[in-house]
Formats: sequence, C-alpha cells, structure tokens
Amino acid sequence: MPRDEIGATPFAVQPQGKLIGAEISQIDLTQPLPDSVFDAVSETFDQYSVVVFRDQDLTGEQRIAFSKRFGPLQINVRSEFNNPRHPEIYTVSNILKDGKPIGSQDAGRYWHSDLCYLEKPTKASMLYAIEVPRREGASLGDTVFASARAAYDDLPQDMKQRLEGLRAVNSYNAMFDRKAAQFGVRPKLNDEAKSKYPKDAIHPVIRTHPNTGEKCIYVCEGYTTQILDIPEAESRELLEFLFAHVTQPKYQYRHSWRKADLLMWDNCAVQHLASFDYAPLHRHMERTTVEGSVPY
Ligand code: OGA
Ligand code: MN
Repeated sequence: MPRDEIGATPFAVQPQGKLIGAEISQIDLTQPLPDSVFDAVSETFDQYSVVVFRDQDLTGEQRIAFSKRFGPLQINVRSEFNNPRHPEIYTVSNILKDGKPIGSQDAGRYWHSDLCYLEKPTKASMLYAIEVPRREGASLGDTVFASARAAYDDLPQDMKQRLEGLRAVNSYNAMFDRKAAQFGVRPKLNDEAKSKYPKDAIHPVIRTHPNTGEKCIYVCEGYTTQILDIPEAESRELLEFLFAHVTQPKYQYRHSWRKADLLMWDNCAVQHLASFDYAPLHRHMERTTVEGSVPY
C-alpha cells in the first residue's frame, strides 16, 4: 500500500501511471530534509521508480545537495557540457550560444538506462526543467519511461530461463558513432578521441534491483551491442526481442514537463526516451546522476 494511504508520509504522494510514476508534493527541497523524511522519499522512489517534485525553485547547489543524499555523484564523460562551476551538473539543451551548443542536444534519442556503459552505472538520475517548450498551451519534449521490472515479470518462463546468467556488452562508443551518423550534432571521433571515452562494460542481461530485490531487464537499445557467449545471430534476435518487449506502451509512463519540475528516475527499474517534437523552440534541462553499485 502506498505510504500516503497509511497516513505515514510527511508529504503527499499522487501515483501518475499504472506501474511507475508518482508526484510527491508538500515538500520543500530547498532545505535539507530530515533523515526520516529523506528515508520516506527513498522508499517512495523505490516503489514508483519515477517521481516528480513540481514547482521546486532550486539552485544548482541545492540540487547537488539533494542528489548527494542518495550517493556519490557522477561526472559525465562529455565534459564540455558539464557546468564549469559544478561539474556534477550536466546540461541537456538545444540552445546555442555564439553558434555553439551549450548542452547535449541528442540525449535520450534511443531507449536507454543512464551510464550503463560504466562498471558502476547510474542508480538515480535527477533532471531539472529550466525551460520547457510549449505550443498552443501544451508542453512539448516529454520524457517517456518504461518499466523494465514489469517487462521482466511478464516474460514467459522459458525465456526467463534462457536469459538467466547471460551477460551483455554496453558500449558508449557504439552509441556515439550511431548518433553522430544519424543526427549530425556530434563530431565523428577518431581512434584517439574514442580512447578517451569509457571502454565497453559487461553487465547481466537481467539484473537484480539492489534495494527491492526485483529482477529487471538490463539491456537497452541505446547502448547494448551484444550478448556474450552465444552465436551472433541469436544475440541479435534476443536483443531485438527484448528491446521491443520492454518499450511496449503498456509498460510506459509519459512525463509531461513543467518548468521547475525535478524528475527523478531509477535506472535499474526503468528505461527512458526523450521526445524531439519541439524544434525550433528551446528546451533546457540540467541533470545530476548518482552512482550505483556494480549490477548483479
Ligand atoms: C537524460 C535523458 C531525456 C530527456 O538526461 O538522461 O535521457 O527527455 N534525457 O531530456
Ligand atoms: Mn538518459
């Protein structure tokens, strides 16, 4: 039962989607939360996997302080888009300054889980909306989430057995090359430039959530290139099946942004995708990411 129904939470929780997504209100993130309130936020986050705090007027420092309560923050490898004063803040934006991008313009083009190309991928991402594009009274640039936990649960038993113990390659460079070729807002990298980016990471195809113990599908279209120790054709077929399975509408929650939303998602329990329906309007967001444990 959600905590608000028990009457125990020091804030209000409004579920948003069927499987994932909740709004937490009556909370002020400008101030450090008492431990008991923070613990209740963490529990709500584990339960809903995607939570939004609306109307939070937060400085970068305040977002960093809140994010750090969940664990150490990551510094993104694309350092040109890290905030110069606070490198833990990564800019996701289509705004150009003097003709140059000030942030990543193609974050979230493919379904993915953040920083899964690292040995210790992101546990939680916090994205803060500074400028949200709007047209005819509606906001644009939604972010869509899919429950990798519910998608795992629904797999037929024989498929669960087939996937048990399999490991897959998650590649930053493969993603980079693909985006450079497809969208043209990234440079083509030579071998020397590539060598500066992270090497591929190997993670289980099905991972166990470190807090809830639930199993989740942990391969994603954006980064996973291959399942190891099986024939290439079988790897391709399994990956295509899993990518299509996990991203079905029935597993999704679609977040419609408002300025001053702080949205937080669990990169083990969900995958996400950005919508690109707003050019030439501006969309400007800032993100912090919390390092998680090695997936198992
Ligand atoms: C991200 C991301 C999606 C979006 O910041 O990790 O994937 O909608 N963003 O901007
Ligand atoms: Mn992302």
